[in-house]
Amino acid sequence: MAALEVLRSIVVVIHLVGFAVMFGAWAVEAAARRFQATRLMDFGVLISGVAGLALAAPWGVDGELNYVKIGIKLVVLIVIGGLIGASTGRAKKGRPLPSWVFWLIGALILFNAAIAVIW
Ligand code: HEM
Repeated sequence: MAALEVLRSIVVVIHLVGFAVMFGAWAVEAAARRFQATRLMDFGVLISGVAGLALAAPWGVDGELNYVKIGIKLVVLIVIGGLIGASTGRAKKGRPLPSWVFWLIGALILFNAAIAVIW
């Protein structure tokens, strides 16, 4: 494997760590029945987002990148970030958002993972 391909694989791993942090933090809140977003989810969005943008550039890869798929993932991640921000902000003000927002966040995270792998 060429050096650039190895580097790209490392960035994919970082991308997956971001996903793991985001979904792991979400799963912890679900198991604790708190149903609100946390700062750790923000870190997950940041890590997977920065790594995802780096991977969106065509380096260390042979074939064409699927920019429709990448664009949808970017839009979905921005929505996830917005919902997390709204949830943590409102909780801080003592007026937490309804739990369906929390479930929507989890569903959107899994949606992005699903299209990443299946599409
Ligand atoms: C919740 C958010 C996200 C999740 C759960 C997620 C999940 C994944 C997973 C599981 C993979 C590995 C599967 C594969 O390589 O086929 C992957 C790869 C990739 N992701 Fe994401 N992703 C997210 C957001 C993003 C964003 C926002 C971008 C770009 C702006 C992005 C760009 C990419 C690219 C380009 C690859 C392909 C890497 C390669 O094959 O070289 N992802 N993503």
